[in-house]
Amino acid sequence: MNYKIALIGGDGIGPDIVKQAVKVLNAVGEKFGHSFSYVDVLMGGCATDAVGVSYPEGTAEACKACDAVLLGAVGGPKWGSDKPAQQRPETALLAIRKDLGLYANLRPAVLRPALKDACPLKRETAERGIDLMMVRELTGGVYFGKRDKYQTPDKGLEATDLMAYSEMEIERIGRRAFELARLRRGKVSSVDKANVLETSRLWRSVMHRLAEEYSDVAYEDVLVDNCAMQIVKDPGQFDVIVTENMFGDILSDEASMVTGSIGLLPSASMGDSAPALYEPIHGSAPDIAGQDKANPIATILSAAMMLRYSFHLSAEADAVERAVDQVLDAGWRTPDIAEPGVTPVGTEKMGDLICAAL
Ligand code: IPM
Ligand code: MG
Repeated sequence: MNYKIALIGGDGIGPDIVKQAVKVLNAVGEKFGHSFSYVDVLMGGCATDAVGVSYPEGTAEACKACDAVLLGAVGGPKWGSDKPAQQRPETALLAIRKDLGLYANLRPAVLRPALKDACPLKRETAERGIDLMMVRELTGGVYFGKRDKYQTPDKGLEATDLMAYSEMEIERIGRRAFELARLRRGKVSSVDKANVLETSRLWRSVMHRLAEEYSDVAYEDVLVDNCAMQIVKDPGQFDVIVTENMFGDILSDEASMVTGSIGLLPSASMGDSAPALYEPIHGSAPDIAGQDKANPIATILSAAMMLRYSFHLSAEADAVERAVDQVLDAGWRTPDIAEPGVTPVGTEKMGDLICAAL
């Protein structure tokens, strides 16, 4: 079987790390008898430099012609918020999420045993382990609501961003969370701000309806400010966290940080039909681009998620994850996760080691 994958290398370290993930996918193909073919897709600041816009015409179509999309990273100070929207890499990211209908963003935050010491929390907390799945709504809310900026008669300029959610949007992300919880430890924590926001009160009522339907899954409501606190106090209490777009943006960075290894965390964004999009949760780190310093593991684990969720190749996905653990257990580290006294390896070498472990 041939699987066709769109590659969006993007900006900064994006191309460096995507290259390693491709190497690993090819090694998987060889070992398990699959073939992967690749189509390069131009998007991000590099597209702005090449053709004047970050999301060139035909980007979504090129991705839709593939079975899955692997993205490195987009963004960088060169294309900052002072630039017009169509030149900013973030605009492209939001557009592709919307155009591919990727409403469900899965961000696992896992503390790998070999990296317990990287966890910035208390030792007892790290010992209890962290293995949570952040399910972030990705195509609604304040990210996609109507924006405006206008002059007021007496208070200068005023700006607004509208946050809207429909029952349909809440229900479909809620179902994803409950289904995932059934495959994990059977608990959903729904995060909202129902003590203030109308969208949150609707969110909560839909989630309560689903909780009755999925009565085999434990359910709790958590206010977003309390959730932020619980993630640093006792992250081990969480299994699946489901939340709206902006809360999920903020909490997923927090959750990744407590695992001590943002360079290790993958993500999947999916809708009701293919292709889904896979990317590391970290950014483009332009300061170390092209220097063989970036950690490719988050992208390699994103490719593992692709094998699992898009191609239903779970033995292959397990093999990649095991290979990563084996290399980490053997003490190999890229600079971002190297303990004092450990000589780090570069991006290429880390990719090679994981291929060899496979
Ligand atoms: C993320 C990023 C994006 C977001 C930015 C780059 C638009 O922070 O994927 O979490 O806010 O969704
Ligand atoms: Mg973010």
